[in-house]
Amino acid sequence: MRLRVGIVGCNAGRTHLAEGYCPNADLFDVRTVCDLDAARMDAVADEFAIPNRTASFDDLLRDPDIDVIDICTPPALHLSQVLAALAAGKQVVCEKPLAGSLADADRMIAAEAAATGRLMPVFQYRYGNGIAEAKAVIDAGIAGRAFVGTVETFWSRGADYYAVPWRGRWQTEMGGVLMAHAIHPHDMLTFLLGPVVRVFGRIDTRVNRIEVEDCMTASLRMQNGALVSLAATLGSVDQITRIRLAFENLTIESDHSPFRPGEAEWKILPRTPDIAARINAALAGWIHVPPRHTQMMRLFYHAVVTGGPLPVTTAEARRALELVTAIYTSAETGVDVALPILADHPKYQSWVPARFAAA
Ligand SMILES: NC(=O)c1ccc[n+]([C@@H]2O[C@H](COP(=O)([O-])OP(=O)(O)OC[C@H]3O[C@@H](n4cnc5c(N)ncnc54)[C@H](O)[C@@H]3O)[C@@H](O)[C@H]2O)c1
Repeated sequence: MRLRVGIVGCNAGRTHLAEGYCPNADLFDVRTVCDLDAARMDAVADEFAIPNRTASFDDLLRDPDIDVIDICTPPALHLSQVLAALAAGKQVVCEKPLAGSLADADRMIAAEAAATGRLMPVFQYRYGNGIAEAKAVIDAGIAGRAFVGTVETFWSRGADYYAVPWRGRWQTEMGGVLMAHAIHPHDMLTFLLGPVVRVFGRIDTRVNRIEVEDCMTASLRMQNGALVSLAATLGSVDQITRIRLAFENLTIESDHSPFRPGEAEWKILPRTPDIAARINAALAGWIHVPPRHTQMMRLFYHAVVTGGPLPVTTAEARRALELVTAIYTSAETGVDVALPILADHPKYQSWVPARFAAA
C-alpha cells in the first residue's frame, strides 16, 4: 500500500519531492501540491507529474484520497495547519521549526496524542551513511565516556535570502541562525550525545540588517557530563558544518559538507588497536544508509504502516526548541539556564524579545 500525500508549500516541498518521495516512489504517491503562488506550484507539479494542484489548504484537509499532509509553509503557519491536519484525521509531516514557542509545541503534542494520525517533524540532517556509522559505534558502547564536543554551523546568507518578506523578522521567521539554521547541526549533536542539561548562550546580529540574530555561541553541559561548545553564523566566507566529539576511546569528526554533513564518511579515530578492531567488528556487514529525506521518509512510511516509532518525534522537536529557548533566555539575562523548560518558565509562551512582540 502506498501512502497518498498532499504537500503544501512548493519550495521546501520541492526538496521533499526530489529527495524524499521520488526516491521512495514504491512507498508514496504524491497526489496534490498546494501553494498560493500559482507559477511555483505549476512548475513543481509539471516537473514531478503531480496530478492535482490547488491554492486551498482546505482542499487537502477535505480530500479523502490523501493520507499524509506534508506542511512546508513559513513557520508562522505551522501551528494552525498542523492542528487542522491532525483534526482532519491525516498523518502529518511538518518542516522545522515545528513551532514558534514551547507552548505551541506542547499544543501540537497534545493534539497528536488525541488524534488518529501522527505528526513527524522534519530533521533530515540526522540521516546519512556517515552519521549512521558514527551513531552505531557510539550506541555499541565502544566510544566510552564523552569528554567534549564542538558544533560549528558556518553558513552564509545575504540580501537575496532576506528578500523573502517573512525571513529575518521575529514575528514570521521566529528566530535567526540559532532557531532556523543551526537547529539541524544541534539536532545532530543531541541525536548522538543525548539531552542538554545546562546552557549559557550569546546571540548577536552582526552580518545582515535584520531583526533576528545571525551569530550565536553557547556553552553546554550534556546529561552524560560532556561539555560542548556551539558556534553559528550566517556570515562565513566558505560554508561548512562540522561536529567534532572527543570520547574516552575515540574521536569523531563529521564530514564538513554544509547541508549534507551526515552523508559522506566521518572520521572515527580509535585510541588503540583494540578499539579499532571493535569498530571494525561493529561495522562488519554494514548496509549503506541513504541520505536525508530519502531515509527519513522511508522510516516514516514504515512507522505509519506498522504503528512503530516515528523516526523523528515531536518530543525531539520540543527538545530542539527547548535548547533554543534556553539560549535566548541566557543571552537576554546573562545567566546559566537549566533544562528542561516547563510551562512556568518566562519564555515558555514566547522567546520573541519584548520590543518585537505583536502589539
Ligand atoms: N529542513 C530544511 O533544511 C529546510 C530548508 C528550507 C526551508 N525549510 C523550512 O520550510 C518552510 C518553508 O520555507 P521555504 O524556504 O520553502 O519558504 P518559501 O517562502 O520559499 O516558500 C513557502 C511557500 O509556501 C507558500 N504558502 C504560504 N502560505 C501558504 C498557504 N496558506 N497555503 C498554501 N501555500 C502557502 C508560499 O506561496 C511559498 O511558495 C519553513 O518552515 C522553513 O524553515 C526547511
